[in-house]
Amino acid sequence: MLSKQDMTHYEIFGFILMKNMLDQKEIQVMTSEFETGLTRAENQTERTSFRKQLNWWNMGPDTPYLASILEQDKFLDIANQVLEGEAIGSFSSANSFSGNRTDWHPDTQAKHWKGLKFGVYLQSLNENTGALRVIPGSHKEPLHSDFKKIRLKESFNISEMKTDSGGLDVNEIPAYNTRIELGDVIMFDNHLWHGSYGGSEDRRLVTLGYFKNPKTKEELASAVQAVQQEKQARATFPLLARHPEWTNNKGNNKTRQFWIDRLKYIGYI
Ligand SMILES: [Fe+2]
Repeated sequence: MLSKQDMTHYEIFGFILMKNMLDQKEIQVMTSEFETGLTRAENQTERTSFRKQLNWWNMGPDTPYLASILEQDKFLDIANQVLEGEAIGSFSSANSFSGNRTDWHPDTQAKHWKGLKFGVYLQSLNENTGALRVIPGSHKEPLHSDFKKIRLKESFNISEMKTDSGGLDVNEIPAYNTRIELGDVIMFDNHLWHGSYGGSEDRRLVTLGYFKNPKTKEELASAVQAVQQEKQARATFPLLARHPEWTNNKGNNKTRQFWIDRLKYIGYI
């Protein structure tokens, strides 16, 4: 669980780095399952763009630990703390990046969406080797929209961004550069602007996605918008899929069933 101080940090800056959240055994299992998924992704998809990114979800029987990780108290309790006790577990994902940069972007464009991502890097990283860079406070307005006025050198998939060869490179944007050691977990708001610079071959990132159960009309509209964003992402990365084993919920996990019902209602499933 997060302390009051950590919660305030997260609320104000839009991210929090949690040191030593995972032990060696957990890292080992995650790495082994990551490699199972990576083989699948390498066989079935191509690395995309300057990011040289492979992206897939680990929600099937060949990655059982990562398929059920959203239900682990360790993550879910924190997600519930931040998302007003109404966290919905949405995906367990993995990325391998072989490019040396990830362009600046937020993870959602839906205005009334409240969600977060846990990022688990399967190697130690610093600002020159691809650790996450963030713009503290950019999960909130006006900074969130102001950032779009910046001319960037390149952008992977945000059409509203002005990009051209004279724009700023990833490392030219003033930012907070995290430093990640194996076992650390970073959590950040889906609206926060983030990027990375200096990674090399096969930089490994596991991510877990949660969002707040949408209730109001505006929240539901944003959730429907997020479904469209997920579909667009799937057109580029076809392995972003909730495996039938996950949606069938054979183990009858009550929490997961609630999530599945809501994901169905909103249109994800
Ligand atoms: Fe991202």
